[in-house]
Amino acid sequence: MSLTRIPLKSNIKNYFVDFDDSDGFLGNLISIPNVIFVIDSNVWKFHRAGLLSVLPKDSVLVYEVSEACKSLDGLRPIYDEMIKQAAKKNAALVSIGGGILQDLTGFVASTLYRGIKWVFVPTTMLAQCDSCIGAKTSLNYQGFKNLLGTFYPPNEIYVNTRFLTTQEDDVFFSGVGELVKLHLIGGEEAVNKLLTEIPYIFKREESVLSNAIHRSLFIKKGYIEADEFDQGRRNILNFGHCFGHALESVTNFKISHGQAVILGMILANSVAVSRNLLSIENSLYIRRKILFPFLKINLDKIRFDSNNVVRAMENDKKRLGNDLALIMMKDNYEMIRVNDLKAMEVKAVLEGLNEIN
Ligand SMILES: NC(=O)c1ccc[n+]([C@@H]2O[C@H](COP(=O)([O-])OP(=O)(O)OC[C@H]3O[C@@H](n4cnc5c(N)ncnc54)[C@H](O)[C@@H]3O)[C@@H](O)[C@H]2O)c1
Ligand SMILES: [Zn+2]
Repeated sequence: MSLTRIPLKSNIKNYFVDFDDSDGFLGNLISIPNVIFVIDSNVWKFHRAGLLSVLPKDSVLVYEVSEACKSLDGLRPIYDEMIKQAAKKNAALVSIGGGILQDLTGFVASTLYRGIKWVFVPTTMLAQCDSCIGAKTSLNYQGFKNLLGTFYPPNEIYVNTRFLTTQEDDVFFSGVGELVKLHLIGGEEAVNKLLTEIPYIFKREESVLSNAIHRSLFIKKGYIEADEFDQGRRNILNFGHCFGHALESVTNFKISHGQAVILGMILANSVAVSRNLLSIENSLYIRRKILFPFLKINLDKIRFDSNNVVRAMENDKKRLGNDLALIMMKDNYEMIRVNDLKAMEVKAVLEGLNEIN
């Protein structure tokens, strides 16, 4: 068993991420009093006879996730099971799954009895390298993504990269988009390390995945500890998302979130080049070396309508003021936010997207 710990400071409660490449952490979880395990149905299917075989079956609720169940109704089976099996204030919830299960169970844990013990075991690349820290819980409401939510960190998070070996490619490479984003935010040293690991990440070598995820979380930690409640600095973590959200929406979510974020970073870099913040050489280097290798979308087969993209960016519910906001990277990997992005600039970089290579 190798255990590395990342401690996180929080205004709500301090917590930590433990990396464990064995099944040792499950022993800790079983011994928690009054515990209920809520487990993603696909994770249960692939791991019930292996890693998760030690769990007591009568304390397991298997949950089938979908974006649609991230709703008030989707919470009911979890509240009901928790109240039935552990009708006490010292009830504890352990959730094992990806970002959807995290959002649902985090919401339950933060509201049941006004807050119960919660341990999260992330099982997707996105949840391991990014969403497991930061304390956000979210539900979709009236067609808007993540409109309802709370800030509530788990008490503990356990990362075991063996779970990632059973993920479908599109889910895995969606998470990889966030991994790449965090490395770019982290700067040159992090990027250079990731460059050497690319072939092993494709092969999903557990120890390499573990190192890359550790770096990502460490980079994210710097931003969330400085701005836990998302008032400013944490905004930088939205690199690639200003365009990315719009591209997801104009394609009716046919491209995955993380892949849209990779395209969003390519487009943000193009704006940065046109504003003389990033040299063409650096932009090309980053695109060819680090963004394109992880891009699974064939740009020859996809055209984005620039008017629709501008409209989607204008409809972003988090937008302030009339112009659009954009996070960009400068030559030295310094990140900046501007609030004066013009529709013309959006159109220009989108038209250039299919010409670049
Ligand atoms: N709370 C936050 O801070 C935060 C941050 C980013 C994203 N999110 C949310 O996360 C969600 C996306 O999460 P995600 O990308 O982790 O995936 P997910 O939870 O949507 O799961 C995707 C699919 O993978 C399956 N799966 C999960 N783990 C598996 C495994 N180990 N093996 C095989 N299949 C597995 C699931 O059953 C599901 O079919 C979105 O709803 C998004 O809004 C939350
Ligand atoms: Zn994201």
